Amino acid sequence: MQGQTDDDRSSHSNDPRWGDLEMADMESGRTGGGSSIEGSDVDESSMNSTKALKGKTKGNTSGTEDEAYDVDMEGDDEYGDAAELSWKDLKVTSPDGKKVLLSEACGRVKGRFLAIMGPSGAGKTSLMNMLACRLAKAKGKGDQMVDGQKYNRSFLKKVSGYVMQDDLLFPDLTVKETLRYAAFLRLPAKMSRDDKLKRVDEVIVKIGLEHCKNTPVGSALKKGISGGERKRLCVAMELLMKPRLLFLDEPTSGLDGITALTLCRILRDLAHTENCTVVCTIHQPATQIFNLFDDLMILKSGKIVYHGPADEVVNHYAEAGFPCPMHTNPADHVLDVISPAKFTEEEIREADENAEKIRLLYTPPHVEDPPEKKRKKDKKDKAFPSRPSWFSQVWYLFLRAMQNVMRARMVLFAQLVQTIIFGILIGTVFLDIGRTQDGQRKRLPVLFFICINQGVFSALILINSFPSERLIVLRERASGAYYVSAYYVAKMMAEMLVQMFFPLLFSCIVYFLVGFQHDAGKFFIFVCFMELCSLTATSLALMISTFCRTVTLSITILPLALEICRLYGGFFLPPSKLPAYFSWLDALSFVKYSFTGIALNELTGLELYCTPSELVNGVCPITSGEQVIKSQGFDYITIWGCALVLIAMIIFFRILAFVGLRWVKG
Ligand SMILES: Nc1ncnc2c1ncn2[C@@H]1O[C@H](COP(=O)(O)OP(=O)(O)O)[C@@H](O)[C@H]1O
Ligand SMILES: [Mg+2]
Repeated sequence: MQGQTDDDRSSHSNDPRWGDLEMADMESGRTGGGSSIEGSDVDESSMNSTKALKGKTKGNTSGTEDEAYDVDMEGDDEYGDAAELSWKDLKVTSPDGKKVLLSEACGRVKGRFLAIMGPSGAGKTSLMNMLACRLAKAKGKGDQMVDGQKYNRSFLKKVSGYVMQDDLLFPDLTVKETLRYAAFLRLPAKMSRDDKLKRVDEVIVKIGLEHCKNTPVGSALKKGISGGERKRLCVAMELLMKPRLLFLDEPTSGLDGITALTLCRILRDLAHTENCTVVCTIHQPATQIFNLFDDLMILKSGKIVYHGPADEVVNHYAEAGFPCPMHTNPADHVLDVISPAKFTEEEIREADENAEKIRLLYTPPHVEDPPEKKRKKDKKDKAFPSRPSWFSQVWYLFLRAMQNVMRARMVLFAQLVQTIIFGILIGTVFLDIGRTQDGQRKRLPVLFFICINQGVFSALILINSFPSERLIVLRERASGAYYVSAYYVAKMMAEMLVQMFFPLLFSCIVYFLVGFQHDAGKFFIFVCFMELCSLTATSLALMISTFCRTVTLSITILPLALEICRLYGGFFLPPSKLPAYFSWLDALSFVKYSFTGIALNELTGLELYCTPSELVNGVCPITSGEQVIKSQGFDYITIWGCALVLIAMIIFFRILAFVGLRWVKG
């Protein structure tokens, strides 16, 4: 790394490579299935590690067991050198098999900085995703080996890192916090906390983020660290694990010249001094960046035009009849020759012919066939130490989630203000409704309105925040950072802890302003129902957002679901008057159970009276809450029945949400 002393270097070369060993396989599923053409298009699944080691890498491998790779660290110092990545006769086609995205690709690289270049659409990302077992929507086949042995996604997670083109990070965490959480979640359980922190500090210095380590990462909407720093942070997160192999998709896109150069220097040093094979795709690098590459692979229309040392490419082109003009960036030259200047038929044909001429001079490297026998679990494989336990993952993810919630102060503040304002508004509109017949007419509307209010707002807040976080989670999962279940449990705990406060505050304001029955027990039940109502609504929203995947779709579907819950909420059409054929929809409405629950709570034991003007023929029509319960048909269920149904709904929605998070991808 820049500014690194010789001492540093030697200490690293002696360092047992604990770091690269952790990316243990997390969850079961498909492996390296289809094709991901954009970086974000990831197949997040992985395989059971034991299987992984046996698995064939034919682009589509699969496995279903759900077991952590939990082998003691022994012989770890043997895992020191850079990975040799080789591939033979790779072919990638579109999902329908009609379009060939990459063909006849052979290559080998070890401990060097390899850049994959080519005009856009040449198949660079396809090749890299194939090598990284991250094809999501296309099909691939061929042999790909690490150290001469076939590998698959699960194995790769343990030895390699992948930096995507678009970096997704939590905007509210600082650089240092981001790295710390990554370290706590991904570094081996056996490594001490201090060592993990030390490792974070080391990486921060190495990658040049010292000056901004306490700056929030930020996002498009919130100012934070710069684009180059973000990119470096993404690389740093992978470096924590000391990968033997690092993939980067267009790491320099969107960066200015100097920033891109700094980043590439870091990558080159990584290959030269840190025993890491670096493979990146890059589009039109500047001369200085080009000079940093050790190896170059040039692709055109899915075929390799050149693969070899970067400093020989100019001679290679010259031999084929395309000498590089003086004062021209060789990177521009090698691409210009094979790219049509204009999209006329003639230009396109000429570019194709040029590429063909150059390709004819290129001899693919000889790549040994992988041994037929399956990868054995050898001593090196045993060097993968166990990752942090499920419980410690939950703990760190919980801390991170809490930090994220607390940092999003504006949202919390808005929610606080909203709760107070609505509490006061409802409380004053229905101020002290009393026990007269007139007050009684208002009682059910205010109870219903309260349920709607608690149900809708919490759901809306969640629907906006969850889908964006979902992408980060999918990505972290793709790199094997943690169990989805650990994330889910942590997230639920953090969210509930914060969200419990608002219904409580709301209840305190509304209950006494409206003047419901002054009874501690009844107030307590009221609060419980407010909590349950809000929790059911957020569970429903969570479920919808994990299945809908995007905010746009979620906010289209959620109001529909909420509207149905409201319509069948037991107010507009009391349970006693509901047509039988709609009773199932009615049964699904969480609003109905919240409303019925608080209505039963409030009406039971309520004594009502009439003012003289309210008497009908000298008789007071309604004298007790029980009468209302009967006439509305609320007595089909008890308070506890309502609470149990809501709890069951919360559990049901949350289990479904987990299923969505775990299995619905993209
Ligand atoms: N799933 C797919 N189905 C059909 N065509 C695809 C698919 N994925 C990618 N392609 C096409 O394959 C070509 C190579 O894509 P890609 O590897 O992303 O190129 P690069 O990264 O070099 O710009 C492009 O022309 C792209 O449009
Ligand atoms: Mg690309």
